[in-house]
Amino acid sequence: MPVIAIIGAQWGDEGKGKIVDLLAEKVNVVVRFSGGNNAGHTVVNQLGEFRMHLIPSGIFHPDVTCVIGNGVVIDPAAFLDEVESLKQHNVSTGNLFVSDRAHLIMPYHILLDGLEEEARGSGAIGTTRKGIGPAFADKTSRMGIRICDLLDKETFRRRLGFVLEYKNSILTKLYGAAPLSLDELYHDYSQYGERLAPYVRETDVILEEALERGEWVLLEGAQGTMLDLDFGTYPYVTSAVTGGVSLGVGISPANIKEVVGVLKAYTTRVGSGPMPTELHDECGDQMRERGHEYGTTTGRPRRCGWLDAVVARYSAEVNGFTSTAITKFDILDDFSSLRICTAYKVDGAIYNRPPAHTALFERCEPVYEELPGWQCPTSNIRRFEELPSQAQAYVRRIEELVGCPASIISVGADREQTIMVTPIP
Ligand code: IMP
Repeated sequence: MPVIAIIGAQWGDEGKGKIVDLLAEKVNVVVRFSGGNNAGHTVVNQLGEFRMHLIPSGIFHPDVTCVIGNGVVIDPAAFLDEVESLKQHNVSTGNLFVSDRAHLIMPYHILLDGLEEEARGSGAIGTTRKGIGPAFADKTSRMGIRICDLLDKETFRRRLGFVLEYKNSILTKLYGAAPLSLDELYHDYSQYGERLAPYVRETDVILEEALERGEWVLLEGAQGTMLDLDFGTYPYVTSAVTGGVSLGVGISPANIKEVVGVLKAYTTRVGSGPMPTELHDECGDQMRERGHEYGTTTGRPRRCGWLDAVVARYSAEVNGFTSTAITKFDILDDFSSLRICTAYKVDGAIYNRPPAHTALFERCEPVYEELPGWQCPTSNIRRFEELPSQAQAYVRRIEELVGCPASIISVGADREQTIMVTPIP
């Protein structure tokens, strides 16, 4: 049952791309199972620095099969751009496959994402405006167009005609925007369809067969548990399942052997919504500048704060983490003391789990525990025992609070800048 799932333990941007790139050399198949091109993974390796949005970070390993599963929404232009930029860097896309069941992001989704955000006014979610929410909404309300529809031109034209009439009414009547042309959309997307076709497969079959052969499959999560539609800080979430991995690829949860929660050594968030440990002082600025905490997809500065162990423990419980990968550890190298949030306080009451009620979550004050910093560089360290004692204590305390061991500690962006505490797989 050799499946490893990599899941973001916070609000996304935990550094999952590096962990996937690192573990990909030990597996046969890497699968993206949720989200869309709202995700942004930065991968630094011997071929260069890459900002990936849709294509699994396993693509840099030529022997690895990369799958974009049915749970992902695909903007074909974004996908084809990413393919082109990989080809320009001589990265092969010969082993890249896209599920025929995946839903498409259409231009009206992108327009509506922006218009809906404007309409929300001060309650705006701060979406990436890539059309993710409207595309998932259409999937759920059975108004979506799938890749398999796109490949059959007659079906596509019929389906698009039906859906676009409805979308144009919303665009024109509700928002006073210009309607989209059926002919233009049909023409552009038919061309995308032709270019996409070589990549399209029944990807659930690819995975079934790989598992039957006893091959290792790595499920690459996008975003983070706190952006999950159900378990996140609703409505300040993305529209996808960012936990619950088996839903997005078509394999049984019983196959999942390891669930690695990727946990940044501090906390960041982009967009609106509660974040109890957010800092508005020079410590936060220091994290942002040292950690280059600017969105990969939108360039927005990320909100930064101390590690929130309430969130991390909750993510571990919801996803069943078997271990964590603690990332960006070196960003804390200069701090003389560090704080970890161990609980929340509201009106004198203590909360040990994030409350479902967002207005209550917004009022949560962090209860902090203070630990001494190590104040020396860690980026060249490769063994846990060689970390300064304060750094080891920080990791051990995180393990206690989260309730599972740390298997990986990342001390820099490069593949090599990694401490493997316990081997995976
Ligand atoms: P959407 O996914 O574009 O609808 O955005 C919804 C929320 O999720 C916003 O707060 C985004 O900033 C956030 N979000 C979406 N994708 C990512 C990601 O990959 N990293 C971090 N935040 C994300």
